[in-house]
Parts: sequence; C-alpha cells; structure tokens
Amino acid sequence: MEAPIGVIDSGVGGLTVAKEIMRLLPNETIYYIGDTARCPYGPRPRHEVRNFTWQMAKALEKKGIKLLVIACNTATAVALNSLQKYFSVPVIGVVNPGARAAIKHTKRHEIAVLATQGTIESGAYEEAIASLSSSAHVVPLACPTFVPLVESGEYKSTMAARIVAAGLQPLKQASFDTVILGCTHYPILQSYIEKTLGKQVTVLSSAEETAKDVQGILAQRGELATGNPQHKFYATGSVPIFKDIATDWLALSNVAVERIQLTSND
Ligand code: DGL
Repeated sequence: MEAPIGVIDSGVGGLTVAKEIMRLLPNETIYYIGDTARCPYGPRPRHEVRNFTWQMAKALEKKGIKLLVIACNTATAVALNSLQKYFSVPVIGVVNPGARAAIKHTKRHEIAVLATQGTIESGAYEEAIASLSSSAHVVPLACPTFVPLVESGEYKSTMAARIVAAGLQPLKQASFDTVILGCTHYPILQSYIEKTLGKQVTVLSSAEETAKDVQGILAQRGELATGNPQHKFYATGSVPIFKDIATDWLALSNVAVERIQLTSND
C-alpha cells in the first residue's frame, strides 16, 4: 500500500529512525514532523509532552498515514499507550526496540541508558529492560546538553566533542558493557560518544530494531509499498535549519521541508 509512514519527534532526532526505515524499506514514503519550535521535550512536564505528541499524531493522521512511529523516547514514554488505544493505524515507539537491542548485545547485562531528563525520570527503559531480562542492571544518565547541541546544527565541531565528554563524565566510575542511546537525537553524536567511552563499550541506538518492527507490521498487514518514495518533512520551527540537518544526516539532495503549525485542535 502506497500510503505514507508517519514519523514524529520533538525535532531532528527522529531522522535517525527515518534514515534506518529508508534504508530497510526503500520503497516506503515517510511523512515526518519535527516539532522544532517547541524542542526540547526532555525538560517539559509529562502532560505537555503528551499534548504535543497528540497534536503531531493527529496532523499526520489527517494526511492518511498507514502506520505511526513515535521516533522520540520522551514522547514514547508518556504517550505510546494512549495513542495505541485511540488510533486505528498501528502506532509504535522506540523504547521497547531500544531495550531489545541492548539485551541482544550485552554480555555482562550491565547497560547504560543515555536519555533526556523526561525519559530517565519516567523509568521507561528500566521497565522495558526488566521485562526482557530480570538480571539486567541499568545505569541511567540524563544528558540535557545533547539535544540543544544537535538542534543547533553545530554537531560536527570541537565544541561538540567537549560537550559530549563533559556530559558523560558521571559515567566514569560506572560499570557497563553496552550503552543504549535512549534519545533519538544522540546517534547524531555517536562518534563523540564512542570516542569518550572507549572501544570496550558497545553503543547502540533503537533505529535498526524500530525499522524492523515497521517492516514486520507492514508485511503482516500486506501493506508494504512497491513504488517510488515521495518523502515530506514538516517543521514547526526554522525550515532552513531543519533542511540543512536533514540533508546532511539523510544524505539526500532534495529534502522537501514545509512549515507546519500545530494546535490543540489538530
Ligand atoms: N529525540 C527525543 C527523544 O528521543 C526528544 C529530545 C528532546 O526533545 O528533549 O527523547
């Protein structure tokens, strides 16, 4: 079926998931909303994040999506269950796929979770990991400086390396063999994160497992697309900044970005 897959995030972070969906399912069209005007979601109260997430989901529902990916851990933690109940199309999040990726790779069952304040406080990763392995130990760390760095577009600078190293300082004494990037913005900083933590640690994101979930659901429903994709990107904030980051990260030459306004009536 040629209807688009909807992907939502507080900003450009969900592009890390969109990229993996494009790689695994090259015929699928993606409609993406980044709520860049109200990013970051991480420090916001739960009810606000839930509200904003509903607005994005409803805006894409109107555009006729066949499946929705909440490509934001902070939003997944507070809104996945309610969206799954309300929407007639399948809705998936990124926390369970991230937890699955971590459990598949960890040898010592010691997993560090890097995420936003909201995701860490929700305990969503602890819960998801505990449901897969009763012996796993989780070391949670909120990295509040990372999302503003990525959204600024300055993520390939020496300043970026310094900010990442400083943000990961609290992990110095901790014991873990696997790190899950529990915020979809963080894979954009992955090389700095890996450099800071060293070779003995495996750094993973939820993107690959999430894309596999999308593939599995669409295949099961007989809804995989066969045509040429016509991706569309919508940002609530600056179109040029979003376009620059999307062009760079997705390595696409013509990224079509439009401004979108979200209201509580959406
Ligand atoms: N990319 C999002 C996440 O995965 C949200 C980042 C934010 O807006 O704070 O949590």
